[in-house]
Amino acid sequence: MVEVGEDGRTWLLSGPTSSYALRLTGRDELLHLYWGPRVTLRDAEALAAGPPPPARGFESPLDGREEYPVAGGPRFVRPALAVRDSTVHGTEWRYTGAAVGEDELQVHFRDPLHQLGISLTYRLRGDVVERSAVLVHEGGVRAPALDVLRMDSATWTLPVRDGWRLTQVHGRWGAESRLARSALGYGEQVIGSGRGHTGHQHLPWVALDAEEGAGEEHGEVYSCALAWSGSWRIAVHRLPDGAVQITGGVGHDDSGVTVLQPRTALVTPVFAGLYSGGGFGGASRAWHAYQRDHVIPGAETVRPVLYNSWEATRFDIAEEQQRTLAHRAADLGVELFVVDDAWFGGRVDDRTGLGDWTPNPDRFPHGLAPLAEEVHRLGMRFGIWVEPEMVNPDSDLYRAHPDWVQHQPGRARTEFRNQLVLDLAREDVRAHLYRQLHRLLDSAPIDYVKWDFNRSFTDAGRPAGPGAGEPSWAHVGALYDLIDRLRAAHPAVAFESCSGGGGRVDLGILSRTDQVWTSDNTDPLDRLAIQHGFSQLHPARVMAAWVTDSPNAQLNGRVSSPRFRFVSAMAGVLGIGGDLTRWSESERAEARDWVALYKEIRPTVQLGDLYRLRPPEGGLSAVQYVRGDDSVVLAWLQAQRYGEEPAPVRLRALDPAASYLCLDTGETHRGAVLLHRGLRTGLRCDLDAAVFRLRRV
Ligand code: GLA
Repeated sequence: MVEVGEDGRTWLLSGPTSSYALRLTGRDELLHLYWGPRVTLRDAEALAAGPPPPARGFESPLDGREEYPVAGGPRFVRPALAVRDSTVHGTEWRYTGAAVGEDELQVHFRDPLHQLGISLTYRLRGDVVERSAVLVHEGGVRAPALDVLRMDSATWTLPVRDGWRLTQVHGRWGAESRLARSALGYGEQVIGSGRGHTGHQHLPWVALDAEEGAGEEHGEVYSCALAWSGSWRIAVHRLPDGAVQITGGVGHDDSGVTVLQPRTALVTPVFAGLYSGGGFGGASRAWHAYQRDHVIPGAETVRPVLYNSWEATRFDIAEEQQRTLAHRAADLGVELFVVDDAWFGGRVDDRTGLGDWTPNPDRFPHGLAPLAEEVHRLGMRFGIWVEPEMVNPDSDLYRAHPDWVQHQPGRARTEFRNQLVLDLAREDVRAHLYRQLHRLLDSAPIDYVKWDFNRSFTDAGRPAGPGAGEPSWAHVGALYDLIDRLRAAHPAVAFESCSGGGGRVDLGILSRTDQVWTSDNTDPLDRLAIQHGFSQLHPARVMAAWVTDSPNAQLNGRVSSPRFRFVSAMAGVLGIGGDLTRWSESERAEARDWVALYKEIRPTVQLGDLYRLRPPEGGLSAVQYVRGDDSVVLAWLQAQRYGEEPAPVRLRALDPAASYLCLDTGETHRGAVLLHRGLRTGLRCDLDAAVFRLRRV
């Protein structure tokens, strides 16, 4: 709901539990007024009537208070918007009006000198406020083009507190999204990616709680997440007077987003913000619900159990071998069979073939259709791996079009994993990719595409002309467009976003993909920490997790039981990625039982509310999913100590007056007992795990 103050200059946006207010001054300055628990319009107007901050010689009266600080005028903070022509740097805005909708607000301004219009957009989705900005060059054809050095999506302002803590997730390949929390110092803390993709280093998300501290289930948490899959930056700025602002948007530096030509517009991606009074857990549940309801396509349905042989076969694949694996997978209850890398072109290792998206005739002599049809006969869906944005120099595509890759004329072309990045800013490259992928999806009954991206940008540069500036701006726009068009032409096909594991996970890609590959690290213990960080922002519904072989072949050689591996992977979208030809009959029988159990708990896990009962910090960790009368508890014991049974796990979100039947032990528990004394897990061994299904009776 959006309400407008009596003088038409105060706006109040209210979700179910929170409010957000802004105020336009008589000098057309758009100031932040309020963000926190839900308030009334009268409260907001009372705040607006408060005295201005005292004037100080060396301080800006605007810094730390504006909705969208720009370069130009009395400001010293890093601007969200910096625009210049050949003579004048910065903008000066005149208010031209506002448009108020049911859950939406747009505030419009004009800069007459640069002939620019800007609209700041706010859209409520539950308690999540989606913000973005639109810049329009209104000049005539002969007006000068404008250099947009920086255009962030939004600046979020927090209330003044004695101190703040900053929570983020950080990592690298094979070790993504690990949670870190520290006191926020003065000055700026910047996270981001200058790599052309979201990156393994951070999810584009931060959470702040005041120094007295929120906990998992109590206290105030402010968090922001950027919906962008290219280079990005989120800067958290603690100003000298203690005010905190969070600015985020496209690009990692300020050296130029684009050159804005007359009669064109620039639209930023969404930078979404959420206030939660329910601690970090409450914030996560609100983010999860937001993504299921408004971001992820078709998120009301559950994702299938998949099989993928990448860890088992690597590049050494063949049709017959895939058939054998498909039979084994179907026998375990797998619902989606995915052929990974090396089915195409001359791909036999990572040096060749990327770019040639037709089946390798030696490996699939009759194309993919016979295997796909067999997979369908076995009752599974059929999926395929692609990495469309890339090319190996040793490929037919590169031999035909060496100019199609990102490069700097006269300079060496940097290779990572022996591959180069296609220049998606080029129309001919985009048209070619669409044609190839469209044809591929028509060539066989393909239901699923694992879309990978296995190296960062290095040579993209900033060539002149359309699309100039931040290279990932044009690239990601083209990528989104490509996926959107393929989805429209093949509406039954689901897409997975992968980038060497979790290198491209964000709200932007999630609005057009069905799930993501969380990490190439499939060690079930490391995964608990990775999943703990991932779950801060994203729901289990998109978090793919495979059970692979033991000892872990991909990363660390750790030995673990099928039980531990399955229960770890069952916290997300379960998949199997082991070499099924080497699993014994008893291992396969056990796997069959786990898959069947997962299918039972899947609606609760994928679509329910997540409660992180205990973090994975060495001893016992546990999560609980709640949906209607059903609860599922997954518990893991990393290391047993002194022969003692770990303390019971206190559950959440149960009715204290109700009774709950545990379908796994047959015991009936009082809700109050589970809430206050807790559930005894009975776990006693190193790397042990258990599943408890509780149903209200
Ligand atoms: C990336 C992915 C893996 C696999 C390989 C194939 O590393 O994350 O899952 O698909 O590429 O080359």
